[in-house]
Amino acid sequence: MKANRLILLLAILLLNAQCKEKVGPANQNEKETSVENQENTHLSILKKEFGTTDTGEQVDAYTLKNSTGMEMTVITYGGIITQLKVPDKNNRIEDVVLGYDSLVQYTRNNPYFGALIGRYGNRIKDGKFSLDGTMYTLEKNDGPNHLHGGKKGFDKVVWKAEEFEEAAAVGLKLSYTSADMEEGYPGTLTTTVTYTLTDTNSLDVRYEAKSDRKTIVNLTQHSYFNLTGDFSKPILDHEIKINANQFIPVDESLIPTGELAEVNQTPFDFRSPKKIGADIDQTNDQLKKGRGYDHCWVLNEQNQGMRFAASAYDSNSGRYLEIFTDEPGIQFYTGNFLDGSLPAKGGGVYGHRTGFCLETQHYPDAPNQPNFPSVELSPGETYHSRTSFKFSTK
Ligand code: GLA
Repeated sequence: MKANRLILLLAILLLNAQCKEKVGPANQNEKETSVENQENTHLSILKKEFGTTDTGEQVDAYTLKNSTGMEMTVITYGGIITQLKVPDKNNRIEDVVLGYDSLVQYTRNNPYFGALIGRYGNRIKDGKFSLDGTMYTLEKNDGPNHLHGGKKGFDKVVWKAEEFEEAAAVGLKLSYTSADMEEGYPGTLTTTVTYTLTDTNSLDVRYEAKSDRKTIVNLTQHSYFNLTGDFSKPILDHEIKINANQFIPVDESLIPTGELAEVNQTPFDFRSPKKIGADIDQTNDQLKKGRGYDHCWVLNEQNQGMRFAASAYDSNSGRYLEIFTDEPGIQFYTGNFLDGSLPAKGGGVYGHRTGFCLETQHYPDAPNQPNFPSVELSPGETYHSRTSFKFSTK
């Protein structure tokens, strides 16, 4: 009798423990952690599981909200901004960045929607460069050239994330350590990218990197914007302004010729706001090479640190985006490769020119262009870059 009871008790205890084991972690996985700021109850950060990569890595999604209703979601895969919801002139809050609904769509075929780009944003001719007499060979993943960090660039790795709160902002600090010779680049590169969403509707992006060997770095953010909030609409009616007197002409494979050309009296003149569609289909050798705009502009006031770089305005919604940076250049790409073959968030497809990118950066192919600002990083130095995307309406 006594022994029977003891066995029963042990059995119950064992069953209980097993249940806890099963239920415990499962619950944790599903748990959404919402951290509320004491002073301002509207600032919030919500963490959810987004999926698992082909190699079994878990990917999380963080949704940051400010107290005026702007919201952004970032996933740890590629540091991708999957959603950026901003108010229009009637306070209608809509998503203004292209992206996908699920992780598998990002891992299988992403034309860099929303992603962090590294180690080198833009192209490097023939995937080759030399540093102190040593030639390095990179992946040719864009015709004859290297593009956006290679086969598995920073847009395709899982970043570590750390959320934080400030008095009037919420943020996410992402870190990734790229091994020596990863994708062919020398040096172990320790990188952090900090996204800060402020109560004044600014998204501040700060990049930092250190290397234990001499290397090259050029980091950027590759969000495709469509300020209409309707991804079925082309972006041709957006009015763009770019604070640049010069742009960088390219060859057939979009590699700089080395020349800096004046924008004056060319379709590349955006010194006063101009619709994207105004000149995009003009007969012009450079527009032909880019299939539209896919060029780097030489920003003015290069020695002034953070300054106005570019803006975009959609008069229907009234949404106005201003971009500030301390970088010397900005790549303006008008979604020329979008052709209706990629599925849009929430249904439909991304048609030709339904998103535009304004990627702040050093110039394309700088490692092979002695006259371009240097992209070299030596041990003991810290690479810094900063870009701010400010949203408002008018
Ligand atoms: C960059 C390039 C473009 C294109 C897109 C992604 O902006 O400059 O040519 O490759 O990325 O499709």
